[in-house]
Amino acid sequence: MKAIIATDQAAGTAGMKLVERPEPQAAINDVIVEVHAAGFVPTELTWPSTWVDRVGRERTPSVPGHELAGVVTALGYGTTGLSVGQRVFGLTDWYRDGTLGEYVAVEARNLAPLPGEVDFAVGASLPISGLTAWQGLFQHGRLQAGQSILVHGAAGAVGAIAVQLARDFGAYVIGTGRSADRQKALEFGALEFVDLENDVLEDVGGVDLVYDVIGGDIGKRSAGLIRAGGTLVSIVGPVEARPADGLAIDFVVESNRAQLDEIVQRVRDGRLRTNIGNISTLDSAIATFNSTERRTGKTIIRIRP
Ligand SMILES: NC(=O)c1ccc[n+]([C@@H]2O[C@H](COP(=O)([O-])OP(=O)(O)OC[C@H]3O[C@@H](n4cnc5c(N)ncnc54)[C@H](OP(=O)(O)O)[C@@H]3O)[C@@H](O)[C@H]2O)c1
Repeated sequence: MKAIIATDQAAGTAGMKLVERPEPQAAINDVIVEVHAAGFVPTELTWPSTWVDRVGRERTPSVPGHELAGVVTALGYGTTGLSVGQRVFGLTDWYRDGTLGEYVAVEARNLAPLPGEVDFAVGASLPISGLTAWQGLFQHGRLQAGQSILVHGAAGAVGAIAVQLARDFGAYVIGTGRSADRQKALEFGALEFVDLENDVLEDVGGVDLVYDVIGGDIGKRSAGLIRAGGTLVSIVGPVEARPADGLAIDFVVESNRAQLDEIVQRVRDGRLRTNIGNISTLDSAIATFNSTERRTGKTIIRIRP
């Protein structure tokens, strides 16, 4: 099969290659999925799991990409709950070969059915952004209807989903980003927008929840915006400043079939719009990853036309 591999951490996306690889074999409880579309998060190449296995042994060449939408072609020993020919989407194991190839082996529990009306490219754009937004808002942030929330990077892949889910849940949502992101953030449902390049973040006053996708100085200053009893949720590593009278939580997204179902139902109902910035083919994917053009939203690779 054709797949993209990463072999050289220092070279980053410039070191990726499109090669022929053996098709993956289904292990216990796996399915093999014919990948129709895959998602790629550029920071993957900085994650240890791209380069070493769970005990720290080198595992290159590795196939990056951990989001997929496709069709099940084979079941491993003992696999239940999914069948051959079924449309699926989901988040694959960080430590196994990923989705930038024609086939991938993935544990069935990491996948959910993809409804027929939802395009494969849309399905592949949902797992990381959708689950990260969902888990940050509802599991870790314990968002309540009527609360106020500040979503950083509101025009980005995760931020745009977080804005919509929070609004739909009945929260008052303030988005942030660069000047150029204002219109997009408002279109996704932010009620106010803070231009981090020109406005003063502190003018926001107090909020119950900050959803931080940026970190650094923005993350540190955000801690001071949290009202008593509120929460700062970070998806960019441990927080550097904690709210005076609140919680600070950082987490890494986990696969969850029930949450994938919730997310895709909202897409099907028109309550949630994904944020795709670019769609390329497998042949042009490496050039896309290395492009210096500014794009907001998910990068999706259509593996099959
Ligand atoms: N913990 C987890 O499980 C998890 C899951 C998913 C993603 N992540 C991480 O979360 C981060 C965001 O992911 P994403 O996919 O949403 O990325 P994204 O699509 O690039 O969105 C980030 C948004 O924030 C904006 N932004 C970044 N720095 C900014 C700054 N200093 N001022 C104003 N705007 C700024 C970006 O604008 P520009 O593009 O112009 O910079 C972009 O619009 C990444 O670092 C990713 O690795 C973590």
